[in-house]
Amino acid sequence: MGRVILVASGKGGVGKSVFTSNLGAIYGERGLKVALVDMNIGLRNLDIYMGLENNVIFDVADVLEGVVSPKKAMVRDRRFQALYLLAATQKKEKFTAGIETVTLLYQYLRENFDIVLVDGPAGINNELKLAAADVDIAIMITTPEFVSLRDADMTEQTLRKNGVNERVYVVNKVNKTFFSSGILPTVETITGMMKIPLLGVVQYDDNIHLSSNCGIPIVYEKENYIERNFNRIADRLLQY
Ligand SMILES: Nc1ncnc2c1ncn2[C@@H]1O[C@H](COP(=O)(O)OP(=O)(O)O)[C@@H](O)[C@H]1O
Ligand SMILES: [Mg+2]
Repeated sequence: MGRVILVASGKGGVGKSVFTSNLGAIYGERGLKVALVDMNIGLRNLDIYMGLENNVIFDVADVLEGVVSPKKAMVRDRRFQALYLLAATQKKEKFTAGIETVTLLYQYLRENFDIVLVDGPAGINNELKLAAADVDIAIMITTPEFVSLRDADMTEQTLRKNGVNERVYVVNKVNKTFFSSGILPTVETITGMMKIPLLGVVQYDDNIHLSSNCGIPIVYEKENYIERNFNRIADRLLQY
């Protein structure tokens, strides 16, 4: 039985999709069966970060409406042994699926994959409730800014109230030169503020940004500090 892991945030643009693509690539390289599900309804992104945008025919709405089976809708990433993507729908106004059908989809994925990474929406809304249906653990992504932390905290509490009992967070886009200014919270300040365990810290790095926008999770390029960092995050996540 695999685990369903939701990647969520309060604020948008904090790096959920980039994080999901890299974590997926790390587990994929380890030979695990990995499913990436883009549940950012109406705003499909993950396919671009994985370089799979031209391969998407069906999306998660097609699966939830019973038009096609999950197996048919999932796109295989040929760089990895068993890494598959289920793309988000771009038709939000026509999306009517409820929590029951999402739960059924997650159940199917649990039975067929080792790791299911759900790239969630930003903020507290109905899409978050849907994406969080029956997940095993949520990873909150935040950046080292007070606005991002406050929103992460609010979203994290909403997930708790919705029955997501296991919650951890990642601080993304950490830029050490900003810390010395005293304007932005340091990682130490952040750990004091957040109520849930820290899973890891990811640096701000132009190479992450450029690589993602070329459709290549940066961890695919071996032997750099980012890959080593993501491997440690992936190890720690398996301990939860
Ligand atoms: N660690 C990082 N270093 C540099 N740029 C990053 C990093 N993480 C994300 N980005 C960039 O930040 C932007 C938002 O990332 P994205 O994953 O799309 O956010 P979200 O899914 O939370 O909306 C993108 O331009 C992405 O390339
Ligand atoms: Mg995103």
